[in-house]
Amino acid sequence: EPEQTFIMIKPDGVQRGLVAEIIARFERKGFTLRGLKLQNVQQSFAEKHYEDLSSKPFFRGLVQYIVSGPVVAMVWEGKGVVSTGRTIIGATNPAQSAPGTIRGDYAIDIGRNVIHGSDSVESAKKEIHLWFPEGIVQWTSSLH
Ligand code: CMP
Repeated sequence: EPEQTFIMIKPDGVQRGLVAEIIARFERKGFTLRGLKLQNVQQSFAEKHYEDLSSKPFFRGLVQYIVSGPVVAMVWEGKGVVSTGRTIIGATNPAQSAPGTIRGDYAIDIGRNVIHGSDSVESAKKEIHLWFPEGIVQWTSSLH
């Protein structure tokens, strides 16, 4: 079965008008868009998404950040998309993310790092299930 990952444009990315730019980077790389929605996030839902980080000192601030405005939740598909998606996104800390990556080009603060991408195939499955309980659109391109 084809590999899928969960990608979320965080509130700062939406508010700064980076949605089209971020989608373009995944499309141009050759990945296929399978799910897309703009939504506000409830505090309890943000806590669930980041439950593995609940003991971290930045957890409360992270949850506050994610509920501060709408996010764009997406499912992207393609060969190696979990790992390559994280390469496109860049290192978690924008101070360390390379130019040419999304965070390298658009962020300076680890607490406002624009975008999230699943860190493994296992967490991608979990996150896609959490964010898209309704399932995703099934389609095949007719352009080839
Ligand atoms: P993300 O890829 O969404 O995964 C976990 C998030 O926690 C990360 O991006 C950052 O937004 C946030 N995060 C990780 N480390 C820190 C930190 N030291 N301070 C604040 N936020 C952090």
